[in-house]
Amino acid sequence: MELFGTVATSNIIPWFGGVVDALTGLPRRIEYCHRRFDSFFEMLIEEHLEPTKQKSEQDVIDVMLSLSNDEKAQFNPTKEHIKAVLMDIVLGGVGTSTITITWAMTELIRNPRVMKKVQAEIRSYIGTVKTAQQDASLHQGEVHFVNQISSQLQGDKDIDQTAAMAMIEVMPHYDQVLYSMQVRAQDFIGTKPYVDESELENLQYLKMVLKETFRLHPPLALLIPLESISHFKIGGYDINPKTRIMINVYAIGRDPDTWKNPNEFYPERFEDNVIDFRGQNFELLPFGSGRRMCPGINMASTVVMVTLANLLYRFDWKLPNGMKREDVSVEEGIGLTIYKKLPLYLVPVIHDFEKTLDQ
Ligand code: HEM
Repeated sequence: MELFGTVATSNIIPWFGGVVDALTGLPRRIEYCHRRFDSFFEMLIEEHLEPTKQKSEQDVIDVMLSLSNDEKAQFNPTKEHIKAVLMDIVLGGVGTSTITITWAMTELIRNPRVMKKVQAEIRSYIGTVKTAQQDASLHQGEVHFVNQISSQLQGDKDIDQTAAMAMIEVMPHYDQVLYSMQVRAQDFIGTKPYVDESELENLQYLKMVLKETFRLHPPLALLIPLESISHFKIGGYDINPKTRIMINVYAIGRDPDTWKNPNEFYPERFEDNVIDFRGQNFELLPFGSGRRMCPGINMASTVVMVTLANLLYRFDWKLPNGMKREDVSVEEGIGLTIYKKLPLYLVPVIHDFEKTLDQ
């Protein structure tokens, strides 16, 4: 990431710049990184070509490999193409998502009020379920069936094979049955072990925390440079064709004309506010906008939210001994992305759910 953000002098002064780059060791560092990535991707592809490998479902490498041998396909990707796509995924997807999670945890540990509120939301939501009676799409007979299985699960009796098969069949469809299973499983694991994707839409405050993190810490401070095709006017300025356009989303997110107390981490600012990060509101553009906006937006927002929800659900977070929250650095490292310069050290403590219930 640091290398990607480094400007090669040879791009600015063609011949002499090459000498300067050689003296700083830039080509050698690029070559070293390239070799390491290349051998890693080579290993992944070889693993996927292994005929004995058991596959439960196809991943992106399997799909590309099958396309490369498909005579009917419009395009047959070569190994080099596959490596280039993997590089896009690693650079575009992995760094940006981990940077966002790190900034969110940094802001939360610096703001205990927000940390407490978001944890309370996640912990209070998980476990509230829709019952069969509330599900208007069920017939009377189905309600009865779901209720029967549910009460059998909550009882002490052993479950026979037919009942077990019926439960497996209906379990994914009815939260009530799932809940009963969880209640029964609590003897072993304490409470529901994790937050899954289906629960995210109910975690509204967590979503506000994510928006606020993107506002203050968009991983790409400057969007990928664009070039204008035709003449247009913006804010009274003439923009000629072939002008390079850089959009500073970092500055947009901290603009005092748009945001009150812009440097404060205050997720509630999104409470009665329709601004979202999906490219429709120019006040918040962590994924860009328009045709070239990030194609990974859905995957990224889901992965980041599920990871954060689980970190916050099962653990309480403490600072290492002797460290105060004011000591947590927000210094930024600058490369292709804006990352947290100093590592974030936190101590996870498994949350005691029984204590919460007693309170
Ligand atoms: C928090 C996570 C992420 C953020 C903040 C982010 C942000 C961005 C931004 C700002 C752009 C440039 C858009 C523009 O200039 O208008 C971009 C492009 C891109 N992103 Fe993401 N991204 C994230 C995750 C991902 C993931 C998970 C993937 C793929 C798995 C991905 C793949 C790409 C690709 C391939 C492009 C280039 C698109 C093009 O040029 O047409 N990104 N991303």
